[in-house]
Amino acid sequence: MPVENSRIPGFYKMSVEERLEKVRELVGLSEEEVELLRRWGGLDPRIADTMIENVIGSMPYPFAVATNFRINGRDYLVPMVIEESSVVAAASNAARFMREGDGIRSFATEPLMVSQIHLVGVDEPYVRGYRVLERKREVLELANSVDKILVQLGGGARDLEMRVIETERGKVLTFHLIVDVRDAMGANAVNSMAERVAPLLEEITGGRAVLRIITNLADRRLVRSNVEVSKDALGGEEVVDLVAETSAIAAADPYRAATHNKGIMNGVIAVALATGQDHRALEAGAHAYAARGGQYTTLSRWYKTRDGNLAGTLEMPMAVGIIGGATKVHPIARIALKILGVKTAKELAEVMGAVGLAQNFAALRALATEGIQRGHMKLHAKNLAIMAGASPEEAVKIAEVLAKEGPVTFDRAKELLEKLRRGEPLRA
Ligand code: MEV
Repeated sequence: MPVENSRIPGFYKMSVEERLEKVRELVGLSEEEVELLRRWGGLDPRIADTMIENVIGSMPYPFAVATNFRINGRDYLVPMVIEESSVVAAASNAARFMREGDGIRSFATEPLMVSQIHLVGVDEPYVRGYRVLERKREVLELANSVDKILVQLGGGARDLEMRVIETERGKVLTFHLIVDVRDAMGANAVNSMAERVAPLLEEITGGRAVLRIITNLADRRLVRSNVEVSKDALGGEEVVDLVAETSAIAAADPYRAATHNKGIMNGVIAVALATGQDHRALEAGAHAYAARGGQYTTLSRWYKTRDGNLAGTLEMPMAVGIIGGATKVHPIARIALKILGVKTAKELAEVMGAVGLAQNFAALRALATEGIQRGHMKLHAKNLAIMAGASPEEAVKIAEVLAKEGPVTFDRAKELLEKLRRGEPLRA
């Protein structure tokens, strides 16, 4: 059920139990779901053992909820799984700047995935390739015989395209089978279709299909997100200019673009992990898309509008599903999808694009103003204190002092812990 309002002031200050109770109330989690979250995602060994091979245990990551998101006029609580501190706080904080009006606007294209069939040893590849295209209908029908349910749901193979690639071993005749995969991520569907049609393509072309597999450069399945943040909310035009400057630098410099895009992926992958997506596919697609013009560049751009506000746009592949794979098998991923309340894979892609854009904004704003280390240091200090043996309560006190006085080191954290336990004041 969609949340009416994702703005929950003071959420970050609540205890874990209080937060869980709040989310339960807002999205209507069942007792069983609450219990699963309380058990820190304790994955049933029988389920884990069906997911991958050679299982000997499971490894829990923190599961959090980002607040404040308003996307296409709807509020969302966004589940995020990530090991890096500050990401969830930054996303929630950025989303607060972006709640005006409809909030972040985000639109995904139809869920079209592409499977490739690479044929070698084809004599006159263009001539033979066209013979295949002449029989396109037959190829598509054969592809669609693989997954009747997908076709019933309105999906299925839509088109067939041909390319001839020059490789170091000669020409390779390549077909792209374009498939509407509806609410699935689609890898299984398109891979099976490629395997099914390959023998026919071999027969028509006289070649040999050496590859029959999805491309993760999912450039037919894009999400486009955009937002405008008022200069007043940002503290003036100077900040707008600085953020736009960081964006221009990243767009021109692949070394910076990689880090800029990493900031986007912090948000995208955290939601991907929470909802059980194939996050490697998302990473591969994102970076390949960023390099599609021949030089690696950014997936987002920020610029100053005529009114002096900050506008941001993001465009990237977003191959995600809400059926199949871990999304349905992993109980926590199912809860994550319930918290999110998305109805289609397209809607999930739209949310993830919006989160990527917000995460990116948070990083650029921090970099352009105070730098990110201050926020990071406090959490880093807390981690060091825990490593030094502090309880979570002690760690909060130690981190406060450690981050303020600097340098933030393990030895100093240990010293402060000893002081605290001797009942001495922490500050000099
Ligand atoms: C850190 O995880 C992400 C950033 O480096 C992103 C960026 O530099 O834009 C802060």
